[in-house]
Amino acid sequence: MKAVGLTRYLPIDDPQSLLDIELPKPEPTGHDILVRVEAISVNPVDTKVRAPKPQQEDPPRVLGYDAAGVVEAVGDQVTLFAPGDEVYYAGDITRAGSNAQFQLVDERIVGRKPATLDFAEAAALPLTTITAWELLFHRMPYSIDNECNRRSLLVIAGAGGVGSMAIQLARRAGFTVIATASRPETIEWCRSLGAQHVIDHRQDLAPQLAAIGFSQVDAVLNLADTDRYWSVIGEIIAPLGHVGLIVEPSGELRIGDPYKAKSIGIHWEMMFARPRFQTPDLIEQHRLLSRAASLIDAGELRSNHRETLGPINAANLREAHRRLESGTTIGKLVLAGWE
Ligand SMILES: NC(=O)c1ccc[n+]([C@@H]2O[C@H](COP(=O)([O-])OP(=O)(O)OC[C@H]3O[C@@H](n4cnc5c(N)ncnc54)[C@H](OP(=O)(O)O)[C@@H]3O)[C@@H](O)[C@H]2O)c1
Repeated sequence: MKAVGLTRYLPIDDPQSLLDIELPKPEPTGHDILVRVEAISVNPVDTKVRAPKPQQEDPPRVLGYDAAGVVEAVGDQVTLFAPGDEVYYAGDITRAGSNAQFQLVDERIVGRKPATLDFAEAAALPLTTITAWELLFHRMPYSIDNECNRRSLLVIAGAGGVGSMAIQLARRAGFTVIATASRPETIEWCRSLGAQHVIDHRQDLAPQLAAIGFSQVDAVLNLADTDRYWSVIGEIIAPLGHVGLIVEPSGELRIGDPYKAKSIGIHWEMMFARPRFQTPDLIEQHRLLSRAASLIDAGELRSNHRETLGPINAANLREAHRRLESGTTIGKLVLAGWE
């Protein structure tokens, strides 16, 4: 089968950083399904794992997490899917990735693909949907079905992949959503996804919030630089509020006052934690992806797909990584089909 892999960890402008390779087609056992990958999306984790370091891989390592495709074969313990089913998933960081024509993935972290989306639109969704959903509804104390909680939520980095899903899910849950974005096109993107207010993360956040009538907010999702916003979040979060984090801080994070004085809940989300540690509730990722598919098919959520860069090959994947490393992508970049 065709795949894109790496043998060395090189800067993305080096043509050797990602290579077109041939690998044997794997066979499913146990809870694994074998998926014929039709489209993939790229995430910052792809570039972080690929970041330059003096390490070599033999055989080549296949990266890639987000994928949409068709079930080709199933292992002997599979009960959720059958050959021919269309699926989407974000996979498992400890296993071979989705940048391959065929991939093995545990059925319990796979959802049925939204019927109203094509493969490219579906591949944009899983990793960011899992992250935003688990953070808001599994780690923080909110429910997607609570239509009347009317709390305020600040989403820092609203136009990114995760922010694009967090804005929509938070609106569905009943929040008043204030997103941050710094450019006309990202401001417009956040509004189109349902953010009622947009402020600029390159300016001081507290005076901008005060100017739109929020001296405090009930909850914050910091989907960007944790260190940079930690102090201001402590200032603007309301007593008994909740803060969600997804980005590793560069140093130690001070969790005492004002966080302690205000009894703030601090919640970490790592969307690979369930598959990595094989937690007993692994199947929750199957459930949330399938629920998200139903919400999309009902028109209550939309894909964060922004652009398809072309078929899945090393040159297009290098371009996708290069753009992601710029930190200015809007929504999701996707590659679809094989040549
Ligand atoms: N823990 C987990 O499970 C998990 C899961 C997914 C992602 N992550 C991490 O979360 C981060 C965001 O992921 P993503 O996929 O949403 O990224 P992304 O799509 O690359 O985000 C791009 C957006 O981030 C905004 N941005 C860039 N620098 C910013 C800053 N300093 N402050 C505020 N916003 C900024 C930009 O908005 P403007 O152009 O408007 O400035 C841009 O639209 C990454 O570090 C990723 O590795 C963690």
